Amino acid sequence: MSSLEADLATSIGAEHVLTDPDLLDGYIWDWTRRYSGAARCVARPGSAQEVAAVLRCCADSGVPVVTQGGNTGLVGGSVPGPDAHQAAVLLSTRRLRRLDPVDTLAAQVTAGAGVTLADLHAHAAAAGLEYGVDLAARDSATVGGTIATNAGGIHTIRYGPTRGQLRGIEAVLADGSVVSRMTGLAADNTGYDLTQLLAGSEGTLAVITAARLRLWPAEPVAAAVLAGVSGVAAAANLYAEIRAHLPGLRAAEYLEAAGLDLVREAAGLPLPLSRPYPGYLLAEIAGTPEQAERLEDVALPEDTAVALDRAGRAALWAYRERHTEAISAAGIPHKLDVALPLGRIAEFRAALDAAVRDAAGPDCRVIVFGHIGAGNLHVNVLGPDPADEAADEAVLRLAAAFGGTISAEHGIGRAKAGLLHLSRSAAEIAAMRAVRSALDPSGVLNPGVLFT
Ligand code: FAD
Ligand code: MLT
Ligand code: ZN
Repeated sequence: MSSLEADLATSIGAEHVLTDPDLLDGYIWDWTRRYSGAARCVARPGSAQEVAAVLRCCADSGVPVVTQGGNTGLVGGSVPGPDAHQAAVLLSTRRLRRLDPVDTLAAQVTAGAGVTLADLHAHAAAAGLEYGVDLAARDSATVGGTIATNAGGIHTIRYGPTRGQLRGIEAVLADGSVVSRMTGLAADNTGYDLTQLLAGSEGTLAVITAARLRLWPAEPVAAAVLAGVSGVAAAANLYAEIRAHLPGLRAAEYLEAAGLDLVREAAGLPLPLSRPYPGYLLAEIAGTPEQAERLEDVALPEDTAVALDRAGRAALWAYRERHTEAISAAGIPHKLDVALPLGRIAEFRAALDAAVRDAAGPDCRVIVFGHIGAGNLHVNVLGPDPADEAADEAVLRLAAAFGGTISAEHGIGRAKAGLLHLSRSAAEIAAMRAVRSALDPSGVLNPGVLFT
């Protein structure tokens, strides 16, 4: 054991420092299997103080630290970079599982960075409240990871992204100092907002160890609606129509025939409607059954499935939520996550397939789905070699050309670090780099993520 691993073992216990290559293999590949890198060990600290000790050991040795929560990130940020000379300490937050009793008066809860979204949801629900961020990876994605990526998800149109749920944060900086602002005060105007600064920082500024999170009154879900449409423009229009009639609209998702076919094949599901359509809008409506009756005022397409009970709603959601796994079952996807102004989303979609095939070859398969209410389209390309970035660049350049962003919710990670300039000005990138240098002068936290 080298002196760094020995120091880590002294700080957090030898059983929490993994060096066996077979065990490391479970951590160094990202969810998509497109990204992997070299880790010299995995450190699993169990408290903020132990995280601080790990960071001090790594700072003393000049060894990079890659923080990992549930390892469900989709932009390569949760695993080390490929440079074997820079083998990292992979800091797993999964033991940071503190989950305090819900403060029902403030409608807040304090949760450790390693708590999964599913556990947080169950905990909030037991107190009659709801956490505002939900996504299909809920059983593995962690509080810390979702903050670090500012995750969006299926309820963004209702509650906003993770950034909007934060009421405080506890984190450890690269030098091992602990910053903690967990009072949960809704009114607190005392200088720079470090909590918000860490939202979307992707492990490059600090290791988040716990957060104070806002909760919402639990909403009864009245209906899920799946409507066949001609494409993304029709889906966007139908979304706006439902929104105008039903104030309880809490999810508006888009899927297309190509993705639906993959889901049906992987999961053995029947057609959801009487015949196939080019696109589908899936909407979820909160409220009482009486309020859901206002769906009758919406000009829904004739071929629309409406599910009122829990089982029926879950059956409709399966067509949407199983996209990610079904696409990965068909190959290693190039996953792009763009957002467009709703008014330009149809132009983008119309130009997309040709742009991908011009860049990466005629045999590429393009699968599009996403959170249409947020203008967020997930573009998945199957076919090109994982190392070939031509399709990725073509999609991101196209989104930027139509006034969109190169990341709606997954972040930049390693995947898009070289193209950050498509969405951020030189002055913005310089300011972001200055913040990073101030908090992590040696650049040991997640090198290669966000910036090349
Ligand atoms: P990880 O993957 O472990 O890490 C992600 C990033 O955060 C890395 O850069 C890592 O270094 C950093 N990080 C992790 N923990 C910490 C910490 N404690 N302190 C500092 N940095 C940290 N994302 C969405 O936004 N919306 C979706 O709808 C959505 N759906 C998904 C569905 C599926 C099936 C899958 C596989 C993924 C989905 N994702 C979605 C992506 C992913 O779940 C999110 O990015 C999630 O926020 C990552 O959480 P994690 O705990 O897995 O983080
Ligand atoms: C989703 O909305 O399902 C996700 O962001 C995951 C993905 O893009 O595959
Ligand atoms: Zn998504």
